[in-house]
Amino acid sequence: MIDIHSHILPAMDDGPGSWAESLSLCRLLAAQGVRTVVATPHYWPGVYEPRAGLIEQRVMELNLLLCKQGVDMTALAGEEVVFCPEIRELLAKRAVLTLNGSRYVLLELPQLMAEEQLFAGIFQLQLEGYVPVIAHPEKNRMIQGDPGLMLELVCKGALGQMTASSLLGSAPGKIRTCGQNLVRRRTVQIISSDAHSIDGRPPRLAQGLEQAACLLKSRREAEKMVLECPQKIIQDRRLGLPEAQGNKKKKGGFLRQLCKEAFG
Ligand SMILES: [Fe+2]
Repeated sequence: MIDIHSHILPAMDDGPGSWAESLSLCRLLAAQGVRTVVATPHYWPGVYEPRAGLIEQRVMELNLLLCKQGVDMTALAGEEVVFCPEIRELLAKRAVLTLNGSRYVLLELPQLMAEEQLFAGIFQLQLEGYVPVIAHPEKNRMIQGDPGLMLELVCKGALGQMTASSLLGSAPGKIRTCGQNLVRRRTVQIISSDAHSIDGRPPRLAQGLEQAACLLKSRREAEKMVLECPQKIIQDRRLGLPEAQGNKKKKGGFLRQLCKEAFG
């Protein structure tokens, strides 16, 4: 599997505090079948502002450690960037990283923002050649309240990344219900771990894959979400049209109607 969302670097954000914790977390990911993992520390202005160069350096150090310790997994550099007014400027000067240097930006949405502002911001990023990958949309209150919003974002060219543990029984009800809905409606294209630690927020990618296969009634389709789609992202290739995009040309009010019908 390929995991495009993880907090595995030490002392960068709310992930591991030391190299020892980082190594334990990586061992757990590798044991679940992850062979490539993108390290995506948080970028929250004023809270976490890791230097891009430091992330790349820590990823190199981590790969040396993994090799030395016989852990069969490769780490790549990325970042989980909160959607903020200065995001285009930060990307332009490479102050924040895309996923493995690709066109794909892992974007965390604020819990609340005006829809017009959201769609305008996404459009601006696309104009500059980026493809926004919305991190764990199932945890966002706007999308929980109106899952059709995620379908609309996908119809406009964004992608959705589900956190594997959100699909499981241990997840809070609202998150689980929204997550399972998004998977069933094929409004998310990628499943990742968003792993933070071995006990607090451990990776549950293998269990998430099984659950997605049940929800989709297709193991093949679920596997695409942890292998084929993330592979194309880290290789900076196009994913092709997600299935939720089938009726893209029916726009405006119809799109809203379609979203309502899709989510009831
Ligand atoms: Fe995250």
